[in-house]
Amino acid sequence: MNFEFTEEQLMIQQTAREFAETEIAPSQIERDKEAKFPTEIVKKLGELGFMGMMVSPQYDGAGMDTISYVLAMIELSKVDASLGVIMSVNNSLVCYGLEMWGSEFIKEKYLKPLARGEKLGAFALSEPEAGSDATHQQTFAVKDGDHWVINGMKNWITNGTSADYFLVVTQTDKEKAHHGITTFLVEKGTPGFGHGVKEDKLGIRSSDTCSLTFENCRVSEDNVIWEVGKGFNVAMETLNGGRIGIASQAVGIAEGALEVSTKYAKTRKAFGTEIAHHQAIQFKLADMSTKVEAAKLLTLQAAALKDAGKKYVKESAMAKLYASKIAVECALEAIQIHGGYGYVREYLVERYLRDAKITEIYEGTSEIQRIVIARELLKD
Ligand code: CAA
Repeated sequence: MNFEFTEEQLMIQQTAREFAETEIAPSQIERDKEAKFPTEIVKKLGELGFMGMMVSPQYDGAGMDTISYVLAMIELSKVDASLGVIMSVNNSLVCYGLEMWGSEFIKEKYLKPLARGEKLGAFALSEPEAGSDATHQQTFAVKDGDHWVINGMKNWITNGTSADYFLVVTQTDKEKAHHGITTFLVEKGTPGFGHGVKEDKLGIRSSDTCSLTFENCRVSEDNVIWEVGKGFNVAMETLNGGRIGIASQAVGIAEGALEVSTKYAKTRKAFGTEIAHHQAIQFKLADMSTKVEAAKLLTLQAAALKDAGKKYVKESAMAKLYASKIAVECALEAIQIHGGYGYVREYLVERYLRDAKITEIYEGTSEIQRIVIARELLKD
């Protein structure tokens, strides 16, 4: 596999890097502290084409490839992983699903403003009783004339209070188990649709996570994604791509932790010299760097397969499994290298650890990724 980036891919990486340094970095500490959603920054990301990166220009997207998306996600997440997940959900879980399986009506009405970054999307699969066990959907929709009436609850929804459009997975025929699941596009403000309070999270604090409630919420049959009974397929296929986004976010966190640690090691002195001269520190940096490169290569491999129109279920799960694991490890090592400075909020280093942990949980826990990988292995 050739990972010589094209000029366009390098330009996107550079644009993301500069944007992260000038637009994201200055307010990151305050947003993390106050759990403040970065509304203005998300708007600017939309203007750059980063909210609908892989959507075709026909639907107002930027028409870029998945490799470019990975490079941009890494650069942004390196500085602020909260922005990484906001962007990843809109691109991978919402725009991708709508472009692949939405009707022309859905694409015109909903995909276009999402791809332009004028509207924000959220993906609602998880429920209080259906997290990893996603086929066990309790939220249900019943047909009533040319509408569906949704009742139930979703939780852990990224972009939950800020999003305009929601992909909502529901049970429509219990008898048919996961073949009786249907996905709808639900607009914010639809009567009967509400959200709970923002969760007070350990990390990715400036992203917004909450529960959603549906009480006799009426949605037009035109808002069914793909077909009635195909909702679980939409969710699973969408998550395969989503895992590339989260793997990229995790690589960004790990690389950020490595960069600050390398810089610190070159300036901090102990025992009469910069700590970078001590093997104890060198070995840590060497291991971190090796892990970052390996995770990046796995992520790029999954992206390249997706761009080539090949199967990438196993590879995206491997990328997420490994990248999330090493993000936590690199964040821990960064704290160790910084000593006491790594443990206090003022120096930002501890945030890498708080942000890294979620990458082992959402869009399929590490245990789920192992199930996906093993099942694919045993199929071959
Ligand atoms: N890709 C495509 N299809 C898949 C798939 C995949 N990765 N995994 C399963 N499927 C399909 C199967 O082929 C099967 O379809 P058919 O019957 O038509 O062949 C169907 O899904 C059911 O699969 P299983 O029989 O294997 O079902 P299971 O219950 O044994 O396991 C599971 C399913 C893989 C564990 C699935 O429930 C799963 O992926 N769970 C994790 C859910 C998850 O990732 N949630 C994240 C929430 S979203 C989020 O975090 C968003 C956010 O806001 C950040």
